[in-house]
Amino acid sequence: MSEPITTFQAPVGTHDVLGPASAQWEGLVATFAQFAYRYGFELAVTPMFEEVGVFNRGIGEHSDVAKKEMYVFADRGDRIYALRPEGTAPIVRAYVQHNPTTPWKAWYVTPAFRYERPQAGRYRQHHQLGVEVLGTDDPAVDVEVIALAQRFYEAIGLARVRLMVNSMGHDECRAAYVERLRKHLVENVDGLCVDHRDVWHQNPLRVLDCKKVQCVAVTTMGPMLIDHICDPCRAHFETVVAGLSSIGIESSLNPRLVRGFDYYTRTTFEFVSEALDSAQDAIGGGGRYDKLAEQLGGKPTSGIGFGSGIERLLLARDAEDVEPRNLLNRTLDLFVIDTTDEDVATVLVDELRSAGFATDRAYDRRSMKAQMKVADKSGARFALLIGPKEHAAGEVTIRDLRSDNFEQLQRSVARREVALALANLLND
Ligand code: HAM
Repeated sequence: MSEPITTFQAPVGTHDVLGPASAQWEGLVATFAQFAYRYGFELAVTPMFEEVGVFNRGIGEHSDVAKKEMYVFADRGDRIYALRPEGTAPIVRAYVQHNPTTPWKAWYVTPAFRYERPQAGRYRQHHQLGVEVLGTDDPAVDVEVIALAQRFYEAIGLARVRLMVNSMGHDECRAAYVERLRKHLVENVDGLCVDHRDVWHQNPLRVLDCKKVQCVAVTTMGPMLIDHICDPCRAHFETVVAGLSSIGIESSLNPRLVRGFDYYTRTTFEFVSEALDSAQDAIGGGGRYDKLAEQLGGKPTSGIGFGSGIERLLLARDAEDVEPRNLLNRTLDLFVIDTTDEDVATVLVDELRSAGFATDRAYDRRSMKAQMKVADKSGARFALLIGPKEHAAGEVTIRDLRSDNFEQLQRSVARREVALALANLLND
């Protein structure tokens, strides 16, 4: 007996996006593209993998993502690459390489790869929509980037979204703060969670990001960065918050919001969905990274951006019961049923598609009944029937697939007038 052939599944922590759910996916991307365009961004497409140094230097080699979650591999030429765990460092690498005119405003849609423990809303390959602006530290840009995210969330039907903001200060005021925090942690090291007790000194700020009760308890008693940033950083932060408020966007200060990557300076922000569980309620986040271009070998260039997880946005829409179709209506207009011996459908569908109708057809010359079943399943609004009799008479029968009223169910129209008749029917 021969061995059964093994079947394959998508890798652990990944998922396939298929119809009809993929229409929502497409709708999110299309809506985001429209918003990005409206805000003056152009699309940037960069490779799915980069030299590992782009991320080690960019997001910080002590960040959890670089240390534990990156997919690092040697190619056949022994170059060490990493699949991108996020979208910002590659965009800044591209900026440094190509030196575009500033301000450079780029948007992207990209998979991101992180070896995380898979759970609802947390994947090893997730997908992000994001924007980055390089070349200005004007607080008006911080407001614009945050506003783009907020308006996009509103447009896709999310109402229960909360915006949290914080400031990471600049290099010097943050370094002085980290020293204070270090002192506090040395004195309280026994109280930290097991994950941080031994490694906190590699990057004390990470402890603020820890959700474990022990670390929360220790840091709550300690100094907060926002109370120790310098005057210019404070003024920048206050201008951002006031700018948001001037366009009706309310934000709340979260002094623990240090985010997971080392590149952040000054403004940081996160959007959470109140409709989701706290383990995966972050639907988007970002901030400034005024030193990242230099860290990647470029000239000093300020930057800011955000990324938003498509899977999280879909979960949030589900949790808020947003009508799936409110983004893109991806239903068929027409389904052609051909029972002639001559395959008339090939010409008819070509004509209808060229006239702009979303049209599908049956194949394999199946019976009228079998084709009708497929038409019913297709979700099309109308079926077009063409059999030997209609063909000979130069006619097509249009059947309303959603009507229960037999009178209105079907009508015959001349073959050459079918596009006009359908346009009128679909506009009704
Ligand atoms: P991030 O917060 O790591 O930031 O990711 C952005 C968003 O991606 C999160 O808010 C979340 O919606 C989604 N996300 C992250 N990890 C996963 C996962 N494992 N499964 C599903 N969704 C996930 C960044 O990546 C930065 N590059 C954002 C940025 C842009 N900062 C400045 N510019």
